Amino acid sequence: MKTAIYQFAPAFGAKEKNLQKIEKTLLQTDVDLVVLPELCTTGYQFTSQKELDDLAESIPGSPTVESWSQLCQKKGFHLVAGLAEKDGDQFFNSAVLIGPEGYIGTYRKVHLFLDEKKWFQSGCSFHVWDIEKAKIGIMICFDWIFPEAARSLALQGAEIICHPVNLVLPYCQDAMITRSIENRVFTVTANRIGIEERVKDNPLTFTGGSQIVDPKGQRLFRLGAKVEAFQEMDIHVTKARDKQITAKNHIFYDRNPKVYQS
Ligand code: ACM
Repeated sequence: MKTAIYQFAPAFGAKEKNLQKIEKTLLQTDVDLVVLPELCTTGYQFTSQKELDDLAESIPGSPTVESWSQLCQKKGFHLVAGLAEKDGDQFFNSAVLIGPEGYIGTYRKVHLFLDEKKWFQSGCSFHVWDIEKAKIGIMICFDWIFPEAARSLALQGAEIICHPVNLVLPYCQDAMITRSIENRVFTVTANRIGIEERVKDNPLTFTGGSQIVDPKGQRLFRLGAKVEAFQEMDIHVTKARDKQITAKNHIFYDRNPKVYQS
């Protein structure tokens, strides 16, 4: 399954421009699955609720979801991409899954980071979608630091965890190796690059380093910290179905939830 990441620097607030850039790049590709960064149409550092209200979209049926649906239909791929969602008077840091037949589903980020707590509500569930070639789970950025997020997806059968991110801390790319090993899944972490300083004296430098890790913890590639790049990799999804870590240890059957604290 040809799986790809597009790492770039969205321009804050310039939705049309960001969408055109994404479309121009993805039109030239020939893959099965593409993962884009968190909040990739709007940028990250909001400074007011009004700003978010002006940029967030109702899903499905929004212009962005409609245009991505047409792109997926034209190119025959599935897309996972982060965007700001508005649902009535609530806002979510969300990611959509769209395929050649159109919109499939939305994940709303459960674990909000720093000032995201000012603007967004937390999501309340993890979900896995079967797209025939693979079972796809989605988590967003800071969800990585809670092993329960990836575990919840793996326990629901996820084979590929798509992980749109806007990383500013240095730990995630290495931690995702563990998330892959402990769940025996592929993780596809799509980060952005660039700097946003929309709040005075609070610049955010996004760390790039987008990567795919296989179920045994092998990093199949890692992009540079500052490069814009589209990178694809042929992955063998069946590798994520073998949960036997030794001949006598099964990663799920050997769990012992009774002795864990919740
Ligand atoms: C993050 O969750 N965007 C760091």
